[in-house]
Amino acid sequence: MEQYIIKGGNPLVGEVEIGGAKNAALAILATAIMADETVTIENLPNVRDINVMLEAIKGIGGKVDRIDVHTVKINGAMIRDLSVDYEYIKKIRASYYLLGALLGKYKKAEVALPGGCDIGSRPIDLHLKGFRALGAKVDIQHGLISAEAEELQGTHIYLDKVSVGATINIMMAAAMAKGKTTIENAAKEPHVVDVANCLNSMGANIRGAGTDVIRISGVEKLHKTEYSIIPDQIEAGTFMFAAAATRGDITVKNVIPKHLEAISAKLVEIGCEVKELDDAVRVVASKPLHHTQVTTLPYPGFPTDMQPQMSVVLGISEGTSTVTESIFENRFKYVDELTRMGASIKVESNIAIVTGVGNYTGAQVSAPDLRAGAALVIAGLSAEGITIIDDIYYIERGYEGFDEKLAQLGAQIQKVTTEKEITKFKLKVS
Ligand code: UD1
Repeated sequence: MEQYIIKGGNPLVGEVEIGGAKNAALAILATAIMADETVTIENLPNVRDINVMLEAIKGIGGKVDRIDVHTVKINGAMIRDLSVDYEYIKKIRASYYLLGALLGKYKKAEVALPGGCDIGSRPIDLHLKGFRALGAKVDIQHGLISAEAEELQGTHIYLDKVSVGATINIMMAAAMAKGKTTIENAAKEPHVVDVANCLNSMGANIRGAGTDVIRISGVEKLHKTEYSIIPDQIEAGTFMFAAAATRGDITVKNVIPKHLEAISAKLVEIGCEVKELDDAVRVVASKPLHHTQVTTLPYPGFPTDMQPQMSVVLGISEGTSTVTESIFENRFKYVDELTRMGASIKVESNIAIVTGVGNYTGAQVSAPDLRAGAALVIAGLSAEGITIIDDIYYIERGYEGFDEKLAQLGAQIQKVTTEKEITKFKLKVS
């Protein structure tokens, strides 16, 4: 089993290059199969979830040529199998984007129903509501969702709840429906805009992405394109919080500062200095940090995917803070692990009450999910002594070369698999 071993206490200083957005990439890979010509995707993050999605595309007959680690060519002309196995959906929920893509293109799709997950129950009723509104017959039987239509007909869809996944899935299917579709109360996340931009570069007609009303005029065919994925705001935010937690000075490069505004605002509020450059953001944490209140919200609010990292920083900031999770029901699973490192956090329903302690102390902890895992790494980097993180598999689902990037900033971190490597690391840092 791979683990990270960390000797905390070093301020992280320097520059780090941010990769392509995983959540945009997952959806964009699905859209790529909607053309019968070759779609080239650049700035692809080289992380596990992306590789699973590429396998799922191969699994239904899509042609996948990996040009290099960050570039892939996809051709969907030879797709014959419209059924996506549970094997993929159980590894990444986002393989349900193939439902919207296949339904839009072939008017038929069958995808295993995703189960619950580590951050709570995650229904997909809104996705299905959208497909039904477009005229598809949608059934759930034997763990499979099947959707089928003679033809998809553009319509007016109101989403009862803001959902990134439902907005993207419906947008993909509607892109190849007959006539006009309006999605109201749509998600405004940067990756929704990125998927719309990619589809438009393939010949779709989508307007309004990034606002809460998206208007789509269906087209019959989509064509080849070359598309570069936007930078990952959550990867960037994670490094920004690592700067705060370690009292460091990090410039995150290759980002869109506008996408990071909610994150930057909170860092400034607790006492960091944040400088926005053209395509970079510098975070300097030279003064004592203090408490604040934060509530996760759909974009442009504070992202739920940054909630654990925020709590970790507040856990060592002066005073008592509150962190309210309004998107997912079970996203405080890391609190018990953080408590083992000395944190003082009480969770009541969807609110964590965080009382700042002077410092964390290193311990052996397990990553409960992707973002919480990254947050525990940040805690380890700021802690006194040695931290060992188990289940780093989760972290590698979404962060490319996390340990290497941190090491370049001066972190003492290493991926280890044996006791011998652990002993060697301890000797090296002592
Ligand atoms: C995406 C992101 C995830 C991020 C989340 C919120 C991907 C691959 N994942 O997840 O990292 O944390 O957005 O920014 O992009 N809901 C329903 N019914 C539905 C769909 C969603 O009730 O049909 C609820 C969910 O339970 C949740 C809320 O809507 O409470 C938001 O979920 P959603 O935006 O859909 O999240 P995902 O797209 O799954």
